[in-house]
Amino acid sequence: MTSQPGAQTDRHQPLPERPTFLMCPPDHFEISYEINPWMEGNIGQSRREPVVAQWRALYDEIAARAAVELIEPARGLPDMVFSANAALILGRRAILARFRHAERRPEEPHWRQWLARRGFEIIEPPEGLYFEGAGDALPDPSAPRLWMGYGIRSLLEACDWLARTVNIEVLPLRLVDRRFYHLDTCLRPLADGSLVYYPGAFDERSRRLIEETVPEPMRVPVEEADALGFACNAVQIGRTLITSRCSPELVERLRARGLEPVCKELDQFMLAGGAAHCLVLRLDVAAPVRARGPAATTYVRRVVALRGHLFDAGLLARAMDAITDAGGSHETLEFHAGQRREDESTVRLAIAAPTPAIMELILGQLLQLGGVIEELVEQPARLTEVEADGVAPDDFYCTTIHPTEVHVDGTWVLAEGQRMDGVLVVEPAAGGDPPARARVALIRDLRRGQRVVVGVDGLRVHTRSRGGAIEDQEEFTFMSSAVSSERRVELAVDAVAWEMDRIHRRGGRIVLVAGPVVVHTGGVTHLSELVRRGYVQALLSGNALAVHDVEHALYGTSLGIDMHSGLTVHGGHRHHLRAINTIRRCGGMRQAVEQGVLTSGLFYELVRHDVSFCLAGSIRDDGPLPETMMDLVAAQAEYARLLQGAEMILMLSSMLHAIGTGNMTPAGVRLVCVDINPAVATKLADRGSIESRPIVTDVGLFLHLLVAQIERLATTEPQ
Ligand code: ARG
Repeated sequence: MTSQPGAQTDRHQPLPERPTFLMCPPDHFEISYEINPWMEGNIGQSRREPVVAQWRALYDEIAARAAVELIEPARGLPDMVFSANAALILGRRAILARFRHAERRPEEPHWRQWLARRGFEIIEPPEGLYFEGAGDALPDPSAPRLWMGYGIRSLLEACDWLARTVNIEVLPLRLVDRRFYHLDTCLRPLADGSLVYYPGAFDERSRRLIEETVPEPMRVPVEEADALGFACNAVQIGRTLITSRCSPELVERLRARGLEPVCKELDQFMLAGGAAHCLVLRLDVAAPVRARGPAATTYVRRVVALRGHLFDAGLLARAMDAITDAGGSHETLEFHAGQRREDESTVRLAIAAPTPAIMELILGQLLQLGGVIEELVEQPARLTEVEADGVAPDDFYCTTIHPTEVHVDGTWVLAEGQRMDGVLVVEPAAGGDPPARARVALIRDLRRGQRVVVGVDGLRVHTRSRGGAIEDQEEFTFMSSAVSSERRVELAVDAVAWEMDRIHRRGGRIVLVAGPVVVHTGGVTHLSELVRRGYVQALLSGNALAVHDVEHALYGTSLGIDMHSGLTVHGGHRHHLRAINTIRRCGGMRQAVEQGVLTSGLFYELVRHDVSFCLAGSIRDDGPLPETMMDLVAAQAEYARLLQGAEMILMLSSMLHAIGTGNMTPAGVRLVCVDINPAVATKLADRGSIESRPIVTDVGLFLHLLVAQIERLATTEPQ
């Protein structure tokens, strides 16, 4: 055994002069199933003669420089030619493959038998732990570590298993492009420590890991075209690099590194998704000799139980996507399905992540999906002190719109002032009693010495603040259709009117966020009617809405267009400036109403009915009106104040003010977002609130229908 724990240097064993490879003759090679994108549509497409000729030419090329041993090909196992997948060889050990696809699993006993007879110590991965040998695990010939691809064939869990089993440093690289499903299709470590690879095959973290591990001058990134020609799928023997296709530029770059590329046509095997490196298995791989102690690893694993409406709300599917999209992996350990629709289900998952940071990311996302993560709940929240005013600690927990509880001093406290994009500040219990308080704060408002929640331990997020699973489901289907037909608009208007009427009757709070389009589309008359009838408790907007409303009230135009005839009025472009000037002379809109200058329109009604409004800023130089707040931080605070206690927010054709408002609003508040542009209307629905309702239609038309329906409802008796 060459990997005896007794030998304690970081040196490598010198490689023998003449390397040895194992190949499998292509007697039974064909394409008879599809287990990678290359094979799709290629069933029965390979041709015997070129198959034999190409394999033979590769064999000769290798046999000229190395010893080649052969395994007897087995009938019915067409992919057995790809001997790279048989095992990972490290010294005298052969770590056998566990194929992901049933089609290749029957190869396993053949490889086991041959390698055992050849004298290798056989190590087998546990059942279900997919690992595809030297197709995914590539020893670095220049250092005691190996690169390993995961995410398509081999599992992330196998990276960890391998690291512990053979005590070697494993660098896990996540493959994200299905065409490069094995690591050897897109990465080749060379003897001098350089690395030929196709960056596009990896996720961001993996690319960074490569860049941090291999210094820039040693990296040879290749273009997509070369990668698709299997240029990375190369066999190195001394200075020779045997590969399939290679662009002249890449040949030049490799020559400049002292290598001699040899290109062999292997298109018959490419039909099955393999080329030179896939067709050989190196048998004399030096076992890396490590210093004492376990190999370094950043791999983390956590078992969590997720509880909630795993099916109806699509929670489980979204949880699994969140795990894989972040670069993690999961295994289901236990599952308890609820008996009835309203029952919750529980799933116990073993989650694996390549780094602790990715684990945090995954757990944070699971938390936001609304599952209760039991293990996190058992921990106290982790708190870190703020070091500088207005700056949060690095791994701060970022809040969502959903009610959040924090586990402090052995009790659960509900955070006050829930909103998204904030941090959780925990205020100490004064003398232990009353208990600690938690509240949501903006980063800019943090003060030195305050304690902020970091990570995701000790947090509980409640995504279902109203209604049961069944009602939510209906809500979901309703809003998942992006474009509303006329009939849908009518139905939506009826539903909104009904809710507004109920809120109005119980003296609740409805807040309006509106853009100037409300005036251009002629909706302002209807909006004024809503105010008159007491359906609006506050209005949030910018400078423009007020300017256009006043222009309309004073001159009947909106940006110079006559709102009656739709024609441009001579000299009308000055109207909005004159409107601003008139209001400035009065000292403000309130004064203009009092002085009898402003006698109609939305703002006239707001003033008359004493409805608060906040106009947040203007970047245009044609204002501002005296009421417009040009200090945006102060305006944000005023928005937040006016939103307190709102039960419904009606967002009318205003993208930025609506999004800003949405972020300040906790879950549970009904959001109705009307816009002619589906992207804007659905944008707010996407923030994870099941209470947002996008209505894609003209806002003037919407208001017209809404007011008519509200008038109808107002004349009926309360049920
Ligand atoms: N058809 C085979 C498969 O999909 C091709 C294997 C190629 N081997 C490799 N080391 N990349 O498994």
